[in-house]
Parts: sequence; C-alpha cells; structure tokens
Amino acid sequence: MFAIATDMGALVLLTLLFSLSSAPAHGWPDQDYKDQLLSSAQLDKDWLISIRRQIHENPELRFQEHNTSALIRQQLHQLCIPYSYPFANTGIVAQIGSGSKPVVALRADIDALPLQELVEWEHRSKFDGKMHACGHDAHTTMLLGAAKLLNQRKDRLQGTVRLLFQPAEEGGAGASHMIKEGALGDAEAIFGIHVDFEIPTGSIGLISGPVLAATSFFEAKIQGVGGHAAGPHLTVDPILAASLAILALQQLTSREADPLDSQVLSITYVRGGSTFNVIPSYVEFGGTLRSLTTKGLYRLQQRLKEVIEGQAAVHRCKAFIDMKEEEYPFYPAVVNDDGLHQHVEKVGRLLLGPENIKRGEKIMAGEDFAFYQEKIPGYMISIGMRNEELGSIHPMHSPYFFLDEDVLPIGAALNTALAELYLNEHKHSILDPA
Ligand SMILES: *[C@@H]1O[C@H](CO)[C@@H](O)[C@H](O)[C@H]1NC(C)=O
Ligand SMILES: [Zn+2]
Ligand SMILES: [Zn+2]
Repeated sequence: MFAIATDMGALVLLTLLFSLSSAPAHGWPDQDYKDQLLSSAQLDKDWLISIRRQIHENPELRFQEHNTSALIRQQLHQLCIPYSYPFANTGIVAQIGSGSKPVVALRADIDALPLQELVEWEHRSKFDGKMHACGHDAHTTMLLGAAKLLNQRKDRLQGTVRLLFQPAEEGGAGASHMIKEGALGDAEAIFGIHVDFEIPTGSIGLISGPVLAATSFFEAKIQGVGGHAAGPHLTVDPILAASLAILALQQLTSREADPLDSQVLSITYVRGGSTFNVIPSYVEFGGTLRSLTTKGLYRLQQRLKEVIEGQAAVHRCKAFIDMKEEEYPFYPAVVNDDGLHQHVEKVGRLLLGPENIKRGEKIMAGEDFAFYQEKIPGYMISIGMRNEELGSIHPMHSPYFFLDEDVLPIGAALNTALAELYLNEHKHSILDPA
C-alpha cells in the first residue's frame, strides 16, 4: 500500500512538473506551415526523381534488395541521419528526433516484382524479368525525401520518428520479420503510403477500417488409384473427387461466410492426368483465399481443409492440403485505425486541400503492412499518381505500370507532415499510464 501511494505521489508530482515546464500546446499549423513544407519538398524534386530512377532501373526481388539497401544507406549517410542495419536481411531503420517518446513510425517497402517491364522509356528496368511495377521505388524515394525534410526540421520535432525501409512486401511478409527483429522500437503508431493509379496526382484516398484482405494460398492433392479408363470400377477416380471438392468449396463463400465480411475463394489451377484412356492416380489443384477480416480467413482455411478432406473421403480418396506458408506466408487484413483516420484526414486537408481528399476503395489484395497494425495502430494511405497525359493509367502489377513522378515531392511532404504533426499532437502521451 505504502509503495503504491509513493508511486502515485511521484506521478502527480511528475505530471505537475511536466505541465509547468512544457511549452503550451501548439495550435494546428497554418497556411505558412503548408507552404513552407511543400516548397521545401519541391526544391528536392530533381534529387527525388534521380533516386527513384536509379531504383527503378535496378529492381531487386524480395529479400535480395542489396543494392537498393546500399543506395538508401548511402543517402542516409550523406544526410547524416543515423540508422540501424540490417533488419530482415536488407531492411533499414533510420531515426530522427529527440530519441524520446512519443515515437511514430513511417514505412516504405523496397522490393520489386518478377515481371518484365513493357514500358519503352529511358529509365526502364535494366534487368529482364524484374520490375518496380507496384511503385515501391516511389515509396522508398518518398521516405528518403521525408528523411531529408524531417532532418532539416529536426529541432522542432516533439519526439522521435522511425523510418522503416522494409524488404519483401511482395509475398515475403518482410514486415513480420522487421517486427521480430525489433524495427518498431517504441513506436506507438505507424503510417504507410501506397501509390494509386485510380486517383489523380495531388490527391489521396482514405478509408477507415478494413481496406485490404487477409490472404493465403493453398495446394491440395487428391490421391486415388489410377488404372485403365475402360475399367473405372477397378480404380479410385481422383478426378471426380477433385471436381466435387471444387464445387463444394464454392459454398463456403456463398453459404457460410457472413455476407458483410467479403471473402474470396478462387481455384486457379487443376492438374491431373495426361491422356484419354487412363484414370490418373492423383489430381492437384490450388488457389487463394481472401477475407476482409483476419478471423474470417482463419475460418475459411479451416473449412477448406474439412471440405476437401470430406469430399475426398466420400469418393474413397485421400486428401493432402498444404497452405504453402513457407513460400507464401499468410497476411492478416489491413485495417486502418479509426483514431488515426482523423489525423490523416486533417493532415491531408491541410496539405492538399479538402477537394483532394477522396474516399478510398477496399480491394481484396493483400499488404504486409497489416503485420504492423497487429502490434500498434496503423494507417495506410493511397496517394494518387494518375496522369492521363503521361500515361500513368495502368494498375499496379501491370508490365505497363508507369509512375507520375510529380507524386514524389507530395509523398515526401505528406510523410513528413504525418509524423511531425502526430508528434505535436501526442507529445504529452509520455505521461499516459499505459
Ligand atoms: C548490384 O550492384 C552490382 C555492383 O555494382 C552490380 O554488378 C549488379 O548488377 C547490381 N545488381 C542489381 C540487381 O542491381
Ligand atoms: Zn504489389
Ligand atoms: Zn505494393
């Protein structure tokens, strides 16, 4: 009892000291703040473009981002920004600010896709079969841009910003490895920006709650007994068993899923047999499962197993199901934090004007940003880069994907303001009992 009373007394005293010594809360920044930040970012535009083009020309696949990582470290070194390396093989965490709480994190992904670039332009990928077709070259550049801006303004930072340069977003769950290796540190919130070809450059798309799906993949093997097709009674036909299993699976989304929890179950290949008169001994098929809630995906995975095994058994076959976790790790759903939504919207309105804040769209793609959001509140923002004149009209993962580079300074400024203003608004949270 006594000890507790002492602690309470200390806390009250500390609170008192802090409220006396800390400067009065700054008001919400004005037009000057916005003009200054945006013009500083525009001054860096040529530098940003040159970095983005270097990364674009030299794409590296998940967990092999060695040159990309070296380029980032070299830039941080030149800017005199301290960083830790490596995280998750090639990842980097830079840190700017006071070193004390509150701490906020910004994240960029750095990996490219196994895709042949089909855009004919001067700075196309120099490596056949590899391309930055998801804009991660832009994300990396925008975060380096923010690093420079934050560093120029570090004296006014009311806490600490951690900048996460993360490998292997594309299927490698790089984020989960970053977390395991301590990349989040004491961060209490995290922001991530992804380019979006559907809304014009200069705008952003925001959506609170579920945004992107929890995703997983699977492969099933149905084992029967092969034999001559003229004597089916002497075989155990895996083709029939696989066919009925595939049909039965469709009922999981149509009959068992909550209609308000969007789910997808797609079978994307079937392999079995090779000729007209032989019943094969086994059939393989596989595909993907998605759900806007992580819980929904776990349930779908469980039921997928039960249905395939059950259907196989009915037809006297055996089923083997592999969720392919090694090659294609499970991703949780991306769920944007309601509290951070207010912050992002305010910052967006200030920086880009209310008319440029659009309602985001949910899609059933996955993003490993979700792993951070399982640990701390997080928010993913879509940043517009559509520009019809330039031909920046192609979706992510298209070999024709083409970035409007005007997005780079905007993204750098947005990252900066998100972190800086978050710290301004949360600088007292050091006293929160949590
Ligand atoms: C990485 O850098 C090395 C040395 O400069 C170069 O030989 C290699 O081609 C680069 N690889 C990629 C994927 O950019
Ligand atoms: Zn992608
Ligand atoms: Zn992406």
